[in-house]
Amino acid sequence: MSTFSRDELKQKRVGVLLGGLSAEREVSLNTGAAVARALRGLGLDVVEVDVGKDVAARLVAEKVDVAFIALHGRYGEDGCIQGLLESMFIPYTGSGVLASAVGMDKVLAKQIFVAHGIPTPAYCTFRTAEEARAAVDALPFPFPVVLKPSREGSSVGVHICKTREAYLAAVEDTSKFAGSLLVEQFVKGREVQCGVLDDEALGVIEVVPEREFYDYTAKYQSGSGTRYLFPAPLPADQYERVNQVSLDAHRSLGCSGGTRSDVIITESGDVYLLEINTLPGMTETSLLPKIAAGRGIDFPSLCERLLMGASLKA
Ligand SMILES: Nc1ncnc2c1ncn2[C@@H]1O[C@H](COP(=O)(O)OP(=O)(O)O)[C@@H](O)[C@H]1O
Ligand SMILES: [Mg+2]
Repeated sequence: MSTFSRDELKQKRVGVLLGGLSAEREVSLNTGAAVARALRGLGLDVVEVDVGKDVAARLVAEKVDVAFIALHGRYGEDGCIQGLLESMFIPYTGSGVLASAVGMDKVLAKQIFVAHGIPTPAYCTFRTAEEARAAVDALPFPFPVVLKPSREGSSVGVHICKTREAYLAAVEDTSKFAGSLLVEQFVKGREVQCGVLDDEALGVIEVVPEREFYDYTAKYQSGSGTRYLFPAPLPADQYERVNQVSLDAHRSLGCSGGTRSDVIITESGDVYLLEINTLPGMTETSLLPKIAAGRGIDFPSLCERLLMGASLKA
């Protein structure tokens, strides 16, 4: 699935696109720095491009031949930068415009998962806080429920609500973030994540947060007590099922390169897909790199594989 050979990459000027304009800017700066370091270590000609409104001019000025997208969230993960790169004929890593745009929108993505028979928690959506408040006694499933903004990441604006009061308070917060309000049935179970690379499921890692759920602190703060178990200590059939659901999700949206799916497994072994991340975190301690490492693909090799697969997809 690679576009470029190792030798061809040596002739290219690689732009690592990082930072950006989204709420996840800080996470992206870490991802971008780690990727740039790894690619330089492979002897490649790398320039970091902090993405702002002048990104098109910067790409030209820096003579970027191929782009490694290390952005997260809005403008980076949602098809915007992918569209710009398509229009400039600069091959780029990861998913194309359409898969990125749909993957960024949890509600649209869930509709596609459902159409493909991929199990995902029951849900309903509201366009405004007012509509969500008005529906508090008429939700189609009982408490606890999970409230989340449809177009954010990193658990920003995500609330687990056990009571109608908690729900009403959460509506206030969640409605501040991008997109519509997504209300999901709370699924009790073990939380795992699965990496897919070049149309192959790489394996499953279990996330054991010490906090109530896998929130922003549990994700990013060292000392938050979150533990990661690879390979996830699951019965073989459940492990395989998570691999399959994640690969199905990757294919259902038409993703390319690396993706990471978030999955919950109930006590009875049912698997529910929460979401797919089309631009998973890529610091050396992020989960896709951890999963890849468990499969013998070290961090520089993972970055190189992704870059070799850079292409135009429109
Ligand atoms: N339906 C759900 N049932 C139980 N926990 C959930 C549910 N939805 C989200 N969570 C918890 O919230 C976290 C973040 O939700 P997720 O849908 O993955 O959004 P994000 O894009 O912010 O990562 C999950 O990792 C999980 O811990
Ligand atoms: Mg998630």
